[in-house]
Amino acid sequence: MARKKGGIGVVSTGKFVPTKVLTNKDLEQMVDTSDEWITTRTGIKERRIAGEGIAAAFMGAEAARSALEKAGMDAAELDLIIVATITPDMQFPSTACLIQSRLGAYSAVGFDIGAACSGFIYGMSVAYEFIRGGLYRNALIIGSEKMTSVTDWKDRNTCVLFGDGAGACIMKKVESGGILSRYLGSDGRNAPLLDIPAGGSLRPASHETVEGRLHYVKMSGQELFKEAVRLMANAGNKAIAMSGVSCKDVSLVIPHQANIRILWAVAKKMNLPKEKIYLNIDRYGNMSAASTAVALAEAHEEGKIKKGDIIILDAFGAGLTWGAIVIEW
Ligand code: ACO
Repeated sequence: MARKKGGIGVVSTGKFVPTKVLTNKDLEQMVDTSDEWITTRTGIKERRIAGEGIAAAFMGAEAARSALEKAGMDAAELDLIIVATITPDMQFPSTACLIQSRLGAYSAVGFDIGAACSGFIYGMSVAYEFIRGGLYRNALIIGSEKMTSVTDWKDRNTCVLFGDGAGACIMKKVESGGILSRYLGSDGRNAPLLDIPAGGSLRPASHETVEGRLHYVKMSGQELFKEAVRLMANAGNKAIAMSGVSCKDVSLVIPHQANIRILWAVAKKMNLPKEKIYLNIDRYGNMSAASTAVALAEAHEEGKIKKGDIIILDAFGAGLTWGAIVIEW
């Protein structure tokens, strides 16, 4: 299929990860686990931890500054800021407004998106439509999470999985290539598989919710594992089918990093060799909405994405939500 010349694409990327590292060996001192169990079951070796006073807005702004610098743009030129996060600094105002203020991007409009680990892909899809519709010329999309603020350090089932960080990209019209397709999905019937039960309007914070450890992530790991494989493979295949390229044209898949075994199973289902799956889960664990964003920025930094390459972003998360985007770089 002949593809049109110019579209809406990603013109730069950026990332920020805290310097503090928590290794599997460190976790062995905290809960009944082992480096061997975590490595073989998840692929994670270590994760980053944001210290006190460092949260989603700070990390997101740092990632954004890096993306702006690489694009040669001033924050004042930004039209739209979308922040994907499930760990906002506070319930309101939005983390997008806090980041707008940190950057001095006063001409932009900003809002948050809550789609858990799929949030960065949801954000890029929304930005695409705003730019395509002509309302805004450019958009800054950020995935920023302090997952360790909602991690129960007494629960070995979940505390070994998560880490903190932020990634960002700038989208605008490009001369060639750009986003070829976008596919999103959600299914609220499976919402109870992964949630933070308290702290919202249904169960506001109380002594009981704190004592019950209900402000931390609760997860049905095995059910999610199966859904993640099925839905990520399906999203990737659907986005490829909609894009006009074929699977063999894809040079790199940049997936949400929840579990290396999920990613190997997705590669198999999509008939893609493992070498085409970008991985950084060993160094960062699952950073929810920041995972895909940081992976995109790192793959770009490492020279793994070149002009003209076809790449796929593919994610899955709480909601359930899922989505994939095919980009000609
Ligand atoms: N160390 C040692 N043993 C452990 C640990 C640990 N950290 N955690 C669990 N175990 C034990 C369990 O207690 C269980 O023991 P038992 O057999 O005596 O009961 C045993 O290991 C096996 O447990 P499983 O839950 O069956 O382990 P599994 O192989 O399924 O791996 C995991 C668990 C890693 C959580 C996996 O199910 C997974 O990755 N699920 C998907 C997670 C995901 O995709 N989340 C969605 C994205 S997150 C977001 O949206 C914010």
